Amino acid sequence: STSEPIRLEDRIRDIPDFPQKGVLFKDITPMLQDGPSFHAALDRLAAHYAGAGIQTVVGVESRGFILGAPLAYLLNCGFVPVRKFGKLPSQTVSVEYALEYGTNVVEVHKDAIQPGERVLIVDDLLATGGTVSAAMELVEKLGGHIAGIAFLVELTFLKGREQLKGHDVFALIKY
Ligand code: PRP
Ligand code: HPA
Repeated sequence: STSEPIRLEDRIRDIPDFPQKGVLFKDITPMLQDGPSFHAALDRLAAHYAGAGIQTVVGVESRGFILGAPLAYLLNCGFVPVRKFGKLPSQTVSVEYALEYGTNVVEVHKDAIQPGERVLIVDDLLATGGTVSAAMELVEKLGGHIAGIAFLVELTFLKGREQLKGHDVFALIKY
């Protein structure tokens, strides 16, 4: 029998009213827990950036780590964590960004990215774009070149992409 291509969108689950009333949360854990789907998702992301000269993958805590680390491995480059405030032990640069309620701070080690380095930023999901914009600011503070921004899922109706103008933005699944 011939095998059908794996449909990742069939393994993204809708959770109504999470984390608060009125939000329809896209849950990627069913996709992650299926080996062939997780493998296919990473292969598709890696294929998109083959030949792009990516030197470093930056992943955003927490769910960006799940995709970013194996993607760095597949692209044969290093992985740099962008972490929530207070988690990184050495000297850092930090950026404050807006959440739906209040603000948050993310950080990266000062010596994690060299000027001119070609960086791919990875996260699981693009919603308003606030989180990834903060990660972009950190990369730019260190003089890195943002060669791409990759997501598993893009919630297009939230228009996060408008904050990422001028950059190569790629998402495997769009809602
Ligand atoms: C989620 C998600 C993205 C971000 C998207 O992370 O993993 O990082 O929100 O939203 P935005 O585009 O509106 O900024 P969350 O802050 O829930 O943290 P987690 O990865 O630790 O669960
Ligand atoms: N799903 C997962 N993560 C998110 C979402 C969502 O719908 N919105 C913001 N972060």
